[in-house]
Amino acid sequence: MPDVLQTVVPASMPRKETIVLNVTSLEFVTKVWRREVAELATCSVTPPVAALPDCLNEFLKAARGASRTPGQAEAVTVIDGQRSDSLETSQMFDPDLDADMDTYIQRIETKMAGRFWNTAYFGLPAVNAEFWDFAKAFADLVAQALGHRPGGRVDIDCFVGRYEWTHTGAHVDYADNFAFTARPGKVMLTWPSSVSGVAGAKWPEYNTFRDQSTPLKNLPDRIAYFPYDTYHVAESPEEVSLNMNLAFWDDCRDTGKVVDRVRHALNSKGPKRAPIGINGATTLAVEDADNLNTLRRLVSQGDVERWMAESALRRETSSRLGVPRPVSGPVGLAAEVSLLPTAGLQWYVSESREWMMLGGNGHVAQMPFDRQLLDDLASLLDGGTVEVGSLASDATLGRVLQSLAKWGVVGPHAQAAGQ
Ligand SMILES: [Fe+2]
Repeated sequence: MPDVLQTVVPASMPRKETIVLNVTSLEFVTKVWRREVAELATCSVTPPVAALPDCLNEFLKAARGASRTPGQAEAVTVIDGQRSDSLETSQMFDPDLDADMDTYIQRIETKMAGRFWNTAYFGLPAVNAEFWDFAKAFADLVAQALGHRPGGRVDIDCFVGRYEWTHTGAHVDYADNFAFTARPGKVMLTWPSSVSGVAGAKWPEYNTFRDQSTPLKNLPDRIAYFPYDTYHVAESPEEVSLNMNLAFWDDCRDTGKVVDRVRHALNSKGPKRAPIGINGATTLAVEDADNLNTLRRLVSQGDVERWMAESALRRETSSRLGVPRPVSGPVGLAAEVSLLPTAGLQWYVSESREWMMLGGNGHVAQMPFDRQLLDDLASLLDGGTVEVGSLASDATLGRVLQSLAKWGVVGPHAQAAGQ
């Protein structure tokens, strides 16, 4: 069946009934991506909704100080349009009180007694392996369809609540957004970037732009897509809606990290007292000479190369999620292992060929250069298997496979072959 563009028309115009597009279709890639909003067909890569309670429990643990959640994971609560204290935990999913998402939502609805509320959980892949896997798989799907990988970072948030409108008003995310819906009720009003005057408009101002908006219904059997520069404001006043938004951000946060580390290593403060100085030949000031030596050392001893390699391996083996796949519980090695189908595995050999760095699903480890190990890893990438029992107890490959299993890069061969 050919894919035909689902025409999402402005509110004032009658709606055409058409077949919805697939994310992987040529029409999506050439006519919709980065150009216009669309309601797309769901595909085989779907969010792991059943993992939401476990995932959101991590946010509660972090807010209570019981775990060290990565910086990317953050929860924001809004009640009647006012942002609450960031330590507000009573509106978060709590496994001691909530058996599942439905009882969680009912608990908050009862507590709110008609007031409007929403909670956004950002950075789900940083705390939950199933969401990490989903985000990577969807990012890979989009990259395959486009023929290139968007340069920015990728993230998923969970947005739950019954609210009149997004409390920040009409705004731009600078992220291409794919919205997956577990509970309907939310409509996203959208405007192209060419519409002037709508930026920052809150209720009731944005209402004057309603006729120019293209409403995107967030429905369970659709993926609602809007481009990076789309103005948008959400409304979910009647029902508690539950959405998971996969965002392809325009920015790439780790691009400047190496520069930041270099800057951090240098002394940027001048002296309290400077020499009077004389005209003619001079030498570098003490601070500048120290900084020059530091720069030489950072390059000659390989620090800058290490920082760049680490950053690139973390970014590329996670399909730009930029966070390692969360490790949960002890992971043993099966008798025969092979590469799991969705795994990201890369390595970098230093210019000196003295050390190398291994990246797997966003995890990174440095080790001495080892030609045999690289051959073994290349064989795994070619579809080979390793019989773990046949390895010597002190074999480097055995130790590396332990880490790769923990990172979700290799698994039992039967499991890998069966997927
Ligand atoms: Fe937004």
